Amino acid sequence: LTATKGEYKHFMLKEIHEQPDAVLDTLRITLPDFPFSDDRIRSFNRAIIIGMGTSLHAGMVGRMWIESLAGLACEVDNSSEFRYRDAVLDENTLVISISQSGETADTLGAMDLAKSRGARQLTLCNYEGTQSTRVADGVLPIRAGLEISVAGTKTFVCSLVTLYALAAYLGVKRGYLSEERLANIVQELLHLPEMIGQLLSDQSQYERLALKYGRRANFLFLGRGKNYPLAMEGALKLKEISYIHAEGYPAGEMKHGPISLIDRKMPVVALVPQDDLYEKMLSNVNEVKARRGSVVAVAAEGDKHISEKADEVIWIPKASANITPILNAIPMQLLAYYIAVERGCDVDQPRNLAKSVTVE
Ligand code: AGP
Repeated sequence: LTATKGEYKHFMLKEIHEQPDAVLDTLRITLPDFPFSDDRIRSFNRAIIIGMGTSLHAGMVGRMWIESLAGLACEVDNSSEFRYRDAVLDENTLVISISQSGETADTLGAMDLAKSRGARQLTLCNYEGTQSTRVADGVLPIRAGLEISVAGTKTFVCSLVTLYALAAYLGVKRGYLSEERLANIVQELLHLPEMIGQLLSDQSQYERLALKYGRRANFLFLGRGKNYPLAMEGALKLKEISYIHAEGYPAGEMKHGPISLIDRKMPVVALVPQDDLYEKMLSNVNEVKARRGSVVAVAAEGDKHISEKADEVIWIPKASANITPILNAIPMQLLAYYIAVERGCDVDQPRNLAKSVTVE
């Protein structure tokens, strides 16, 4: 397989733009080769999601969907930790690994451990025939297409879409998700490519934000619930390609330490969707402003409260709380991308990083 950058300056930008089509391709998967019978699906009493880096962040969101849509207790762990702890597993445990490359050494090691302890396994992977697809009982292809840039973008979004569909599928099979809720989920998912397209249509604000904040030494990313992993992902993307020190935190943790970092030099990216944690995020934004931090909010279109409080707002189309983390991935990617370009970094080949980490 070969790929060219086409009209784009970097593969990363090209891959960010490919997301509406990649999501559409991923949505076409109808879980035809699902390896477990309905009885087996009902017998699972626990799921564990494993992965590294960006794939782990997708898993952190997936956990919440599996709990809320399928009623299945779900943990998430970093593969390199999971493989060396005494994880309690049996044939009623469903282990779901996420690895776009299918070759990450720690995830493969964790899968071997899960297999040796009798757990059933699914894996999400972007490439057929890779090692992870050989070890798992079943494969959920993420259909993102070839990804060249070291920083994962479309593989992340497609992993999220696949996990959301998987959670809904498990929910139906376990009798936990009603037909009506399923129909609403499907309906909204069909609009996802269009919503992502909308988010990609005007990127001038990111160039402006990169000029304004691109020379800062530190960034803080805050989110709650399903958007806490997106704060982690936003921080990871920024540090990977721009070499700015960035931390992603669940916003409720702020008072327990990170708040001491906030001063007028600290930009804080706050994910503030209008979900059931909205008021709590608003009060976190107030706390940042009270300490003179600059707030770049990522919020739902039409939210007047947030524009009064934040220094800058990146608007996201109105969507359900379940879909919002997928939409929030796009500004996390674009912010990191334009800041890295502004700083003259080698966006596609950041120092010290490899596309897949095949050694421990
Ligand atoms: C993504 O931007 C990173 N380069 C990295 O965190 C990556 O997601 C991680 O190494 C896992 O890779 P995998 O999905 O191929 O297993």
